[in-house]
Amino acid sequence: MADNKDQDHKPESIERLRVEEFPVASQIGALTDANKGLRRKIFDLYTIFEISRHLNSMLNLESLLDATLFTCIGQMGVAGAAIVVQDATDNKLSHFHWKGLTIPKDSIMHFSRVGRLARHLQRIGQPQLIRELQGAIPAESDDFAKLKIIEAELVVPLISKGNLLGILFLPRKLSEMPYQENDLEFVSILVNQLSVAIVNAHLYESEKQALLELRSAQKRLIESERLAALGRLAASIAHEVNNPLGIIKNYLTILTKMPDVSMDAKSSVTIVHEEVDRIARIVRQLLDFYRPTLERQVELNLIEVIDSTLDLVSQKLESVGVEIHRDYFGDDVRISGSSSRLKQVFLNLILNARDSMASSGGKLMVEARCVDGFVEISFSDTGTGIPAEDLPRIFEPFFTTKKESGTGLGLAVCHGIISSHNGAISASNNDLGGAKFLIKLPLLKGKDASA
Ligand SMILES: Nc1ncnc2c1ncn2[C@@H]1O[C@H](COP(=O)(O)OP(=O)(O)O)[C@@H](O)[C@H]1O
Ligand SMILES: [Mg+2]
Repeated sequence: MADNKDQDHKPESIERLRVEEFPVASQIGALTDANKGLRRKIFDLYTIFEISRHLNSMLNLESLLDATLFTCIGQMGVAGAAIVVQDATDNKLSHFHWKGLTIPKDSIMHFSRVGRLARHLQRIGQPQLIRELQGAIPAESDDFAKLKIIEAELVVPLISKGNLLGILFLPRKLSEMPYQENDLEFVSILVNQLSVAIVNAHLYESEKQALLELRSAQKRLIESERLAALGRLAASIAHEVNNPLGIIKNYLTILTKMPDVSMDAKSSVTIVHEEVDRIARIVRQLLDFYRPTLERQVELNLIEVIDSTLDLVSQKLESVGVEIHRDYFGDDVRISGSSSRLKQVFLNLILNARDSMASSGGKLMVEARCVDGFVEISFSDTGTGIPAEDLPRIFEPFFTTKKESGTGLGLAVCHGIISSHNGAISASNNDLGGAKFLIKLPLLKGKDASA
């Protein structure tokens, strides 16, 4: 249109236009192209600036991946995008995330860190077009099949400190135009920003985890200090009671042997004697709080200790309808401890389980397994279970729901003994409605492989 106008107004200058204006027109064309390129660069930079700000403020991995995929879709003119990143737990490239693509439900989109694709991308460290990959990884490989499912055209590695953190996959552009140099530049900057943000997110997660663990360790410490203090108090009272109790028992014995004491008085003295014996039994249990530290700890096979305790009571339990199930992961679990004290713990737990199943029998499941340098032993029953409001109190000395027949000292003693073995004991209710007691004890170093 502009040319026609020029022709109308200056018909005489056509010849001059042909000779002189053509180079100018082509320069204008080149300038327009450069201008377009510049505009695109400014737009890319602006987007990168915005997304970087956004990514740096995000600490949640899912949101980071979402934001990156949406940016790619908008900026690259693609129908969808996918990304796989390292899973925090298994150190594999198995956390697969995608938008706008059709990925069959049953496809497992994990990528091995030692596979050809991962190794190639880690080495190259640059975006790769699918045709560049065709030479580098076998067409019949698993990785290639996955690239086909994603319909990947551009594959971009996420690298942090020389390690492959993940891979971004982009399909063909909707315009069918090939990826250009500035596209590659854009995704490279984007994935660099994303890698930094992912490392930050992982760091944040692990700090958060460490803080939670610290808090729960503090809570356990306060709880076990509280129980230990209660235990020490109870034991010191027992110590004071023990001496006068011995004297009372002696005098009662003397009394029953006196010739001029009537039969009535003698039978009363016998009742007093029985009650004094009961007090003496409680006092003995209370004194147990002091003893664990005095006992020598030696190397022992914990499974043998559990088995010999169960054998001791199995007939008695069976006679009241309690079945025992044993499930041990390994039969030689070495720890350092006192077998008599540990037997006392197991016996207390077994007798409590029996009490809770006294009315109609049931099952007692004893399991042992080794995890991360510890052995975990659980005693699980099908009894009454522990009411939620009692759970925080059952390890306190004298806490009992058994009225006359209970002393409330069994679990307090268990707690003291397990603590003196540098272990932990906890209680919960199981899926069967009964109670579950879990004991964790440290394995002897270098012995955990046997279990
Ligand atoms: N296996 C269990 N099932 C249900 N409740 C239990 C179980 N073990 C312990 N308890 C609860 O914990 C309380 C304290 O137990 P313990 O210290 O052994 O004292 P005691 O057996 O003398 O009552 C019990 O009275 C009972 O309420
Ligand atoms: Mg008990």
